[in-house]
Amino acid sequence: MSELSFKRAKKLEGEVRLPGDKSLSHRASLFASLAEGESVIERFLVSGVTRMMLNALTSLQVPWRLEGDTLVVTGRGLRGFREPTSPINCGNSATTIRLLAGALAASGTPCVLDGSEGLRKRPMGRITEPLLLMNVPITATLGCAPLHLTQRNSAHLLRAVDYTLPVASAQVKSCLILGALAADAFSVIREPGPSRDHTERMLSAMGANIRWSPGVVEICPLMRALKPLQIALAGDISSAAFLLVAAAIVPGSSICIREVGLNPTRTGILDALTAMGAKITLENERIVAGEPVGDIHLVSDALKAITVSGDLVVRMIDEFPAFAIAACFAEGVTVVRDARELRYKETDRIAVLCGELSKLGVQLEMYDDGFAIHGKTLTGGVGDGAGDHRIAMSLAIAGLASPEPVIVQHAEILNESFPDFVTHIHALAGE
Ligand code: S3P
Repeated sequence: MSELSFKRAKKLEGEVRLPGDKSLSHRASLFASLAEGESVIERFLVSGVTRMMLNALTSLQVPWRLEGDTLVVTGRGLRGFREPTSPINCGNSATTIRLLAGALAASGTPCVLDGSEGLRKRPMGRITEPLLLMNVPITATLGCAPLHLTQRNSAHLLRAVDYTLPVASAQVKSCLILGALAADAFSVIREPGPSRDHTERMLSAMGANIRWSPGVVEICPLMRALKPLQIALAGDISSAAFLLVAAAIVPGSSICIREVGLNPTRTGILDALTAMGAKITLENERIVAGEPVGDIHLVSDALKAITVSGDLVVRMIDEFPAFAIAACFAEGVTVVRDARELRYKETDRIAVLCGELSKLGVQLEMYDDGFAIHGKTLTGGVGDGAGDHRIAMSLAIAGLASPEPVIVQHAEILNESFPDFVTHIHALAGE
């Protein structure tokens, strides 16, 4: 499957239940390994990205098994990792390397963390600098992976910090929260925007003493073992976003996505699509294992351009590739600002999105911290997944409403974080 073609759909219709959330799956598997006892995690996302975390747990001699999409992990406590015999390969997964670095810092296990060529280009100084302030013996290679954690007497506690992140980042925040569990006193982590708070919610549910409000987290050192998890994960709103945008741009569509995570730090895309004119309603809203969950209905309607900036950017940080496609079918010029962080994702998403959309005929302007898209200028053509699952999925959904088909090159990446993405698209389109 190196090339796939997506053509205009008559309408999208039907109901879907998606795999578990990527961020929750990463956290649940790692945090379960730090608990004492057996955790059972239902609706775990079994995909390329989460395999990296599971392989890392194997290297650290944490027993786990998958029964369908139920993950069972036997945790041995905060200091229970065994030293791996070779470097841990985190593949393309920044969540794996950054969260793992925090867990290894807390446990005191020596280890080398490495990854793909793409991962080796992503900034790691943002975790190593604060970890060094906490007395974690860690070095990066010119600010990037490989990361080397050397032996630390795990009986010695880390130094508590009051640290302000230069950019809002749940990965960095989570890394430091994990380290702070093994600190000598109460730590405070501050950030300039409301990044996702799944770590705070899950660790609290496991018995950690963590208090948080948007922008500030206070962490007490762990006094007793984390309790194992018995949890069913919510569906991934970042995967749902591609189906929602697809339905929003194909006239006459009406879809329902069941049991999706509705954590307010992740629902920016719903606010953005609603502001553009899509008819979105939420049903069966409830709290499951500390996380808001519900069904999302979307009925298509004419879309109009909007401007996205400020905190809304943080609340939809992974959704810009999908959102850009909604912008392509909206009336007017959609503007995204304050989104420089997109340049540090799986690819430089500002440059790659602008490059690939231009190839499909879209008129746009690129800024250092965002872009402007002129609606109704996309014609179709050939785009490249460029080794970025979210870029590939965006190009695919663009084809569902474009005058000419869209051919996605390097399409094998399409299912990386959203298994069966292509199957769901075809089923909703009645093909
Ligand atoms: C994630 C946080 C975000 C997001 C990534 C997953 C997480 O990254 O882009 O896909 O699970 O914590 P940053 O923390 O770099 O913003």
